[in-house]
Amino acid sequence: MRITAYRKAHFNAAHRLYRKDWDEDRNKAVFGKCSNPNFHGHNYDLTVGVTGEIDPETGYLIDLKILKDIIKSEVEDALDHKNLNIEVPEFKDLNPTVENMAVVIYNKIKKALDSKYDLEITLYETPRNFVVYKG
Ligand code: NI
Repeated sequence: MRITAYRKAHFNAAHRLYRKDWDEDRNKAVFGKCSNPNFHGHNYDLTVGVTGEIDPETGYLIDLKILKDIIKSEVEDALDHKNLNIEVPEFKDLNPTVENMAVVIYNKIKKALDSKYDLEITLYETPRNFVVYKG
């Protein structure tokens, strides 16, 4: 019996969308005001979905305290109130778009999670713009 449990989280972060190898005009043309050199912030809403089998002994899919702790250490501690471009090593040479952020978050949680689970990341950059990544 496959089932999915979800846990929500939230963090704030600053970023700038740009490529170091493009000049300012090209960055502005492609990324618009998101390439503002002085950075800007977003309130990110994250939903982490974990899919697997219910343990017949406990009735649990996963102890949600474990998932909570993984999200705290891998996402909140790593990204909350950070400048993604400057302070987060994963984005040193990777544009911190919501797409790339969802992949980075997926990879970090996947590494910390028991491999028997499937993982799904939903990341909202604004209330209306979000991506889903399932690996
Ligand atoms: Ni932005």
